[in-house]
Amino acid sequence: MKHRIALIGCGGMATSHVRRFEDLYNRLEVAAIVDIDRERAENLAKLLPDKPKVFTDYHDALPCCDVVLMALPHHLHAQCTIDCLNAGKHVLAEKPLANNEEDCIDMIRAAKANNRVLMVAYCMRFHPLLIKMKELITAETYGKCFQLSIWTEQHTERAPDNWMCRKATLGGGQLFSHGCHYIDLMLWMLGRPVIGTHISSNMGTPWMEREGTSNVTITFESGAMGYHFGTWGARGTRHGYAFHAHCEEGMLEFDLAAGKLYLHSNLSKHNPGENENSKISVLAEAPSCKPTIQEMRHFLDCVETGATPITNAIESLEGLKVIWKLYEAEEQLKIANLKGYGFGTINPNDL
Ligand SMILES: NC(=O)c1ccc[n+]([C@@H]2O[C@H](COP(=O)([O-])OP(=O)(O)OC[C@H]3O[C@@H](n4cnc5c(N)ncnc54)[C@H](O)[C@@H]3O)[C@@H](O)[C@H]2O)c1
Repeated sequence: MKHRIALIGCGGMATSHVRRFEDLYNRLEVAAIVDIDRERAENLAKLLPDKPKVFTDYHDALPCCDVVLMALPHHLHAQCTIDCLNAGKHVLAEKPLANNEEDCIDMIRAAKANNRVLMVAYCMRFHPLLIKMKELITAETYGKCFQLSIWTEQHTERAPDNWMCRKATLGGGQLFSHGCHYIDLMLWMLGRPVIGTHISSNMGTPWMEREGTSNVTITFESGAMGYHFGTWGARGTRHGYAFHAHCEEGMLEFDLAAGKLYLHSNLSKHNPGENENSKISVLAEAPSCKPTIQEMRHFLDCVETGATPITNAIESLEGLKVIWKLYEAEEQLKIANLKGYGFGTINPNDL
């Protein structure tokens, strides 16, 4: 049976999903497409082989589908997702889950009450090279990881009245909107956090009401440090999207654009015959695109089997709570005490 999907929100991210749908047509059919801007919806519909119905109000699309991909501005995530869940639809919700804890909890409760899947689209968790990197870190293949640094350097400029520039609609700044991927990945790779800082600026990104550039540092229970530098103001970049994990026997490097996972090590056991200077070897390769296909396949698997998604709403809320705590500490010029935060700290039965 093919799933009948409704796409709600036809902006940049929905288009990015649809452009990679080709390998999914054996499992899904795009039945409905929704945007308050009808022209946008019609333009996206043109990229699809099916002839989806086009709507400007998502409520009208719900009778046509059994699953939903929700890619709306952040302040609209909660109400739309809850309406879809209450109508009996399974929802793949674009990140971040919602702009405040109360809304996140209401979404989680709606999924539970209706026994539907609510998955959060943290696509990077499905990248084969990041999965490999996490495996190597967890297995301590190159010794213990003591520093994971993540750079994301892009130029994301919108008119200052666009929802992405305003704190109330975006839910924060660069860290909340984009950095949520990397806080999620750090918690996934390094475990429970202990203390952290976020220091930020909107210099270079004056279109942003809140920060356009973030520097996050977190210490984890293992003793490892996590660092994230994210900017929406890069007019040029060398790093692009880069992950460096320093371990006791070498450094793992993930380069998204190159689609490569490298090992840099100057130890002879990792470089037979060579023991001078740092040597580089390619450990694994993968296509350089965002892994939204793997993400959608996982969502459909969960819908069919009832399994809890890898990127479930509770972990997603646990990640956002770290960000809110970092924002709060930054405002108070303090170091955030993150003990009691991180994955596995919310008991679903308490919600
Ligand atoms: N996973 C990723 O890597 C990634 C990357 C970019 C964006 N995103 C996420 O995708 C979501 C959408 O972001 P975007 O960049 O596509 O934004 P966008 O502004 O390009 O698109 C949003 C669309 O929603 C439409 N819309 C607004 N209100 C609506 C309503 N009430 N009903 C129907 N449509 C409505 C707008 O007309 C617009 O077409 C956000 O959650 C964002 O964080 C994820």
